[in-house]
Amino acid sequence: MAALVPSGAAVIDVGTDHAMVPVWLIQSGRASRVLATDIRSRPLQSAAALVEKTGTEGRIRLMQTDGLAGIGPEDGDTVIIAGMGGETMTAILSAAPWTKNGTLLILEPQSKKAELRRWLTQNGYCVETERLAEDAGRVYPILTARGGDSPAYSQAELHLGRLAQIGRDPLFARYLDTMRAQAAKAAPYDPAAAALLEEYDAIKRRPDYADGTGDI
Ligand SMILES: C[S@@+](CC[C@H](N)C(=O)[O-])C[C@H]1O[C@@H](n2cnc3c(N)ncnc32)[C@H](O)[C@@H]1O
Repeated sequence: MAALVPSGAAVIDVGTDHAMVPVWLIQSGRASRVLATDIRSRPLQSAAALVEKTGTEGRIRLMQTDGLAGIGPEDGDTVIIAGMGGETMTAILSAAPWTKNGTLLILEPQSKKAELRRWLTQNGYCVETERLAEDAGRVYPILTARGGDSPAYSQAELHLGRLAQIGRDPLFARYLDTMRAQAAKAAPYDPAAAALLEEYDAIKRRPDYADGTGDI
């Protein structure tokens, strides 16, 4: 995720927890400064300890707040929201419409990914890049977005991400299998899940999809 941060960016890390990402961004020289926020005081205490231990106080500012409350474009050009549900992300962004004016969003939703993509496209954001990442044996999507008009998504892509961007990723086959298993579980009593299952199976039948060399 940190690799998607432009060099020299002024970053706002929402829900920073232990401030691992801000410390990496400063120590690696990737970001010029970071405003690291969390809604709870306990994570911010851990964050403060790590910031002090790593001597990054001059570049990392900590703030207790809900989402982007009390924060504006003067505080950063890149907003990271990672490790939360998609519905929390949409609530945070709804309350901060300034993020549509050129701010780069880097989002790593833990759940409700289709709802997040739908909300972004219906609320003046364009998803620019989709990536897959692996952590502790789990594959998850990371997307970047900015204010702007978005091309439409297919139903399968709302759930998976844009196939043109992630279809060749070596993690894609595993990710698709996980998403397929979820749809298969719900399909007997949910027509939308059954339709998704068909779309996923159609993707699996496309030649070479699994080895990362296909045209997906
Ligand atoms: C699972 S941790 C993710 C930490 C880090 N962003 C990461 O991806 O490794 C989620 C953090 O988000 C914080 N959080 C949840 N809702 C929030 C909100 N509305 N505003 C700010 N922080 C929030 C939690 O307190 C917690 O520290």
